[in-house]
Amino acid sequence: MSLKKHILDLRRRKQKVEQGGGEKAIEKQVAMGKMTARHRILSIVDNESFTEYDLFVEHEARDFGMENKELHGDGVIIGTGTIYGAPVCIFAQDFTVAGGSLGLMHARKITKIMDHALKMRVPLIGINDSGGARIQEGVNSLAGYGEIFYRNTIASGVIPQISVILGPCAGGAVYSPALTDFVFVVDNISKMFITGPNVIKTVLGEEISMEELGGARVHAEITGNAHFFANSEQECFEQIKKLITFIPWNNEQKAKSFPPREPKSDNNIEDIIPSNPKQPYDVRDVIKAIVDDSDFFEIQELFAPNIVIGFARMDGKTTGFVANQPMVLAGVLDCDSSDKAARFIRFCNAFNIPIITLEDMPGYLPGVDQEHAGVIRHGAKVLYAYSEATVPKITVILRKAYGGGYIAMNSRHLGADFMFAWPSAEIAVMGPEGAANIIFKKEIDEAEDPDKMRALKVQEYIDRFANPYVAASKGYIDSVIEPSETRRLLLHAIEVSSHKTDARPNKKHGIPPF
Ligand code: HXC
Repeated sequence: MSLKKHILDLRRRKQKVEQGGGEKAIEKQVAMGKMTARHRILSIVDNESFTEYDLFVEHEARDFGMENKELHGDGVIIGTGTIYGAPVCIFAQDFTVAGGSLGLMHARKITKIMDHALKMRVPLIGINDSGGARIQEGVNSLAGYGEIFYRNTIASGVIPQISVILGPCAGGAVYSPALTDFVFVVDNISKMFITGPNVIKTVLGEEISMEELGGARVHAEITGNAHFFANSEQECFEQIKKLITFIPWNNEQKAKSFPPREPKSDNNIEDIIPSNPKQPYDVRDVIKAIVDDSDFFEIQELFAPNIVIGFARMDGKTTGFVANQPMVLAGVLDCDSSDKAARFIRFCNAFNIPIITLEDMPGYLPGVDQEHAGVIRHGAKVLYAYSEATVPKITVILRKAYGGGYIAMNSRHLGADFMFAWPSAEIAVMGPEGAANIIFKKEIDEAEDPDKMRALKVQEYIDRFANPYVAASKGYIDSVIEPSETRRLLLHAIEVSSHKTDARPNKKHGIPPF
């Protein structure tokens, strides 16, 4: 055969395999409001950049009629591409081929691209749309999952790993996304659970829809499994691309720098905090008043909103923000917000991203529910993550910094490199009312007018302790600053600490309070 004929033969073969599960299955996929696996990859990576591998891989299963089944690409597409010029490895399960179920060769394709990503030190993006372990392939499917989980773990902290849930992700399959750094979900499309509605009905007799059990909103708002929620696949892909611009290729590099930009001028930083210390405000307004172009890329926006986490740029450089949100539960730390903050701090630390902490919170959330849910164990994660982090760590106390919260939110005592406080800061063991009721109990009880005495004592306490100057007099705070100076001082602190070294004792690894 001439080379020309070989080329035509190759094209014909490719065209056939690229049809996935065929016209009917694709029609079904589209009718469910879903894109095909190939379309998804091509929508994420730069034009003309996708290079596919293992297109001609076929399964080897011989049981339950599988010997006669041709499964194109074995139900998964793998390859490399670029996003705004940055290389990525990517795979997408193809639901049109045997429901995207994971058999031996399907798993081998995924582990091959994972190995590439780790060796090449580039981010990995995995698009999940699958009925889970391919039932006909038995233990081979389970082996495949195990080998994926192992690689997720080995690659953790070396390359960024991103999971996108665009269809079912059921049974043990959920654990690969759970081991990765960022999980993206899309409303009405993502379904993620360990045991499906059928099993729940059989075992527990309870009726529940897939959406209510493990839909996108459930994971974005309640479980915290998802980091980004979108209303459409296209919106989700834009989020993924934006995230890629904020993170480095691997743990030995820094994220790409962009030209510096001033915050937008409509965010006047001095007007954000209300004069009444009991009144809430949106801490994201403070972030926007500080960061380049007022562009804040929030993560887990809908989960544990009493803490705000996300990326922004400071003079063009990626910076992680952790901020108490006074608008929700007064910004307290509880089980969920502790988990949310701790994990983000560890991501920033692993990938050389400085952390800025903005503090305004009355402490850990009191109550039996929280105690029994393990607020001690979960809250400890924040202390661990901040103490462990060796990237530049800078704190600005905006208003309240009480009790355990003062220590936990990247205090000097946990290794903060720079501690700033606005003059509105209140740093003390507890809030003035609670404190006055305890330490001046006798005077208040014995007074002719206890309410008047209480008010007097509360004021006395505020004058003495509820300010930043006691902490500043001990050197726990480096500078009490005017709000308008915040950006300039933060930029300076980041610049000064750009070559920070912080050697720690040798160990295999620590034992965080998981
Ligand atoms: C083999 C599967 C499959 C599977 C789906 N298919 N799941 N084939 N193994 N796990 C096939 C179907 O037979 C069908 O093939 C095609 O994919 C499309 O599936 P449908 O059922 O027609 O699609 P839909 O109605 O949209 O329902 C999707 C679904 C359902 C909800 C995912 O297919 C389903 O419940 N599948 C089983 C899910 C499951 O229990 N998986 C095992 C989980 S346990 P044809 O040829 O008709 O097109 C697990 C253990 C892993 O994963 C443990 C790791 C540690």
